[in-house]
Amino acid sequence: MKKGNVIIKNATELVTCKGFKAKKGNEMNELHIINDGAVIIEEGIIKAVGTTEEVLKKVNEKNYEVFDASGKTVMPGFVDSHTHLVFGGYRAEEFSWRLRGDSYMDIMKRGGGIINSVRGTMEATKDELIELGKKRLNSMISFGVTTVEGKSGYGLDYETEIKQLEAMEELDKIHPLDIVKTFLGAHAVPKEYKGKEDEFIDFIIEKVLPVVKERNLAEFCDIFCEQNVFSVEQSRKLLSTAKGMGMKLKLHADEIVRLGGAELAAELGATSADHLLQASDEGIKAMAEKDVVATLLPGTAFSLKEEFARGRFMIDNGCAVALATDFNPGSCFTESIPLIISLATLHMNMTPEETITALTINGAAAIDRADQIGSIDVGKKGDVVIHEFPSYKFLPYHIGVSTVETVIKNGIMIYDKSRAFENI
Ligand code: NIG
Ligand code: FE
Repeated sequence: MKKGNVIIKNATELVTCKGFKAKKGNEMNELHIINDGAVIIEEGIIKAVGTTEEVLKKVNEKNYEVFDASGKTVMPGFVDSHTHLVFGGYRAEEFSWRLRGDSYMDIMKRGGGIINSVRGTMEATKDELIELGKKRLNSMISFGVTTVEGKSGYGLDYETEIKQLEAMEELDKIHPLDIVKTFLGAHAVPKEYKGKEDEFIDFIIEKVLPVVKERNLAEFCDIFCEQNVFSVEQSRKLLSTAKGMGMKLKLHADEIVRLGGAELAAELGATSADHLLQASDEGIKAMAEKDVVATLLPGTAFSLKEEFARGRFMIDNGCAVALATDFNPGSCFTESIPLIISLATLHMNMTPEETITALTINGAAAIDRADQIGSIDVGKKGDVVIHEFPSYKFLPYHIGVSTVETVIKNGIMIYDKSRAFENI
C-alpha cells in the first residue's frame, strides 16, 4: 500500500463544497452533497469522488487504507485563513481588565495590547516559538483544520519579524498542517516611532519588506489599518509597494473605526479584507465587485463585545465571505472552529451552508489556494475530515463542540479521536 492512498466510503453525506474559486453571494449555499459518497486519494491527491458504488468499481480496496464513514459526514478540511499563531507570552491579565470594562484600545494606549505580545515574542527564542506553534497547530487539527494562515506582527523590528516568519517556515516543514505566511510588520506602532508613523512605514518598506520578499518568507503583506494605528494613506503606501514587488495583499480593515479599509482593499485588488465590523455599504459593494474576499472573524467581535460584522448584508450584496478564528493572544485567544460556527449561524444570520462554504472553499480563496484545497474535487490535496454525525447540519446544532472524528491530511491520517479513549 502506497503512502497517502486512502479510500473513504459509505459516507452518509459527502459534502464536497465543489469548486475551484470563491463562492459569492447566493452561491455560498451550494454544498454539492453526495449521499452514500466515497473519495479516493492516491499519493495524497484526490483521484475520484462520487457515490460509493461508482467510485469503488474502479479500484482494488487492498491497495488503500479504508475508512468506513457510514452514519457520518465527510467534508473538506477547514481552512483557518486568518491567525496570529506564533507569539510569545500571554495576556490573560488584560482579558480580566477588559471584563472589568477597559476597552481594547484603552489597553493599547497604555502600552499593553499588541506591544505586550511584542515583548513576549522578542524574549522567546525561535525554538521556543516553534514548540509553542506545534502545540497550537495540534489543537487546530482537533477542530478539523488542515491549512492555516499565520501572520508575523509581534516583532515590529527586523530581527523579531524575521524570527516569527522563520518559525512559521520551519513549522510548515516539520508539522503536517500547511502554513501560509503573511508579513504583518505594520501591526502596531513601536514606542520609539510614536508620532513618527510615516517613518516606521518607511523603515518597513526599506529595511524589512525587501528581505521578506527576497527570502520568500511571506506570500502576503498585511497591515492594521485603524485609527491611532496606521492611516489609509500609510496603508496604501506599504501595500502598493508590496504589490509592486509581487506580493499578495490582506488588510485588517474597518475593525474599530470606519476608516475606508474596505474601499482601499477594493482599490488595491487585495485578496482579502478582514474584520470589517464597521465597513461601509459602498466599501462592501466595491469588495464584491473587485472579488476581494470578506474574511469575518466573529470570535474577535465576541471577545471584544463588539457588534458582529454584517455577514448577511455582505452575502446579500454579492460578496464572497470567509470565516476564520483570528487566533491571537489578545483580541481573540481561541482556535475553536465550533465557536465560529455558532457565532456565524446564531448571531450573524448566516445559513449552515454559507458557514461551511466560508470555512472551506472561501477560506481557501482568502489565501489564494482555491485551486488546491477547500473542496473535495479531483486533483486537489487529500485533506478530508470525517465528522461523527450523519449530516453537516449537526455542526451548528452541536453548539461549541467539535464533531471531528478523523482528520486526513495529504492522504495520511493525522488525528483519530477514538485513540484518545483507548485505555477506557
Ligand atoms: O486581528 N486587530 C489587530 N490585530 C489582531 C489583534 C492582535 C492582538 O491583540 O494581539 C486582530 O484582532
Ligand atoms: Fe488579526
